[in-house]
Amino acid sequence: MLAVKADGIYKYYKSPEGKKEVLKNVSINIEQGEVFGILGPNGAGKTTLISLLSTLSIPDSGKVEIFGIDALKEPNSVKCIVNISSGNPNFPWSLTVYENLKYFSLLYGLENREKSINNVIGMLELEPFRNTRFDSLSTGTKQRLSLAKALLNEPRLLFLDEPTVGLDPDMAIKIRKLIKQIHEEKGITIVLTTHYMKEAEQLCGRIAFIKKGEIIANAAPAELKRQMKLGEKIIIDYEGRFDISSLKNIPQILDIKSGNERVMIIAENIESILNDVLKKFCDVHIKNIEISQPDLEDVFLQLAH
Ligand SMILES: Nc1ncnc2c1ncn2[C@@H]1O[C@H](COP(=O)(O)OP(=O)(O)O)[C@@H](O)[C@H]1O
Ligand SMILES: [Mg+2]
Repeated sequence: MLAVKADGIYKYYKSPEGKKEVLKNVSINIEQGEVFGILGPNGAGKTTLISLLSTLSIPDSGKVEIFGIDALKEPNSVKCIVNISSGNPNFPWSLTVYENLKYFSLLYGLENREKSINNVIGMLELEPFRNTRFDSLSTGTKQRLSLAKALLNEPRLLFLDEPTVGLDPDMAIKIRKLIKQIHEEKGITIVLTTHYMKEAEQLCGRIAFIKKGEIIANAAPAELKRQMKLGEKIIIDYEGRFDISSLKNIPQILDIKSGNERVMIIAENIESILNDVLKKFCDVHIKNIEISQPDLEDVFLQLAH
């Protein structure tokens, strides 16, 4: 079953120059149970897109269905089964962690409020901060509170907008672990935006890349790398004189870069050419060999520019 089905979404904002097109003909299908990533440079339209999918705002045209429910005709039915957490949470600042969660549980009309609040406090390890005011919390704890709030109504679909933005590496790792755990234990479908490629690579089964309001790629991370023909990379550091042109007759090499006793070779499958490549180096002293897979960072750079 599809958790999200969006077709032909357009969104405009007013701007001093007139009408600004922020999303252009965006269509997206997300399967139930997926962790789906929305990537793209700043200002690409990621937050706008997940605000539309979570019924916080409405598109100027297009259709959105969440678990088969028309989000434009029945936003309240959708609101009961989704929630959204932002990496820049802005909660009532003078309320404590507990009071904030109570406030949202009242807003959501939850029946078993104390149980729900205690559940999410436990899950997000917020007990030590139960009576701490929002404005006294660290960034990481604010983000955990934002996740806790988003789990209060036990959503089937969770939107996370830059969940680890601005965190120290250890807190970011902790939050990613929590996201993974929430996905695995509860089977919730997760849609997250990020511009940390490591995060996308670790968490997301599929990724849509959005640029200037348009989806320009949509696939699993490994598939994206294949589509981009980024290839695998081998870097050889050597000492002595080496004739780079001797490599040119090895088929399957996609690209060669050289300089300062270093050669970088890109090929679809390094293993299949490694023997031939190394034979060419028999007259020089090899100091180091490094083989690496392309990462999403390479995909991002290629797509964003
Ligand atoms: N409420 C708004 N009014 C006018 N322009 C907006 C508003 N929200 C976002 N924008 C503009 O829409 C574009 C997309 O923004 P956003 O969805 O926040 O991008 P992202 O999350 O990818 O950084 C940006 O150019 C931004 O300036
Ligand atoms: Mg954003």
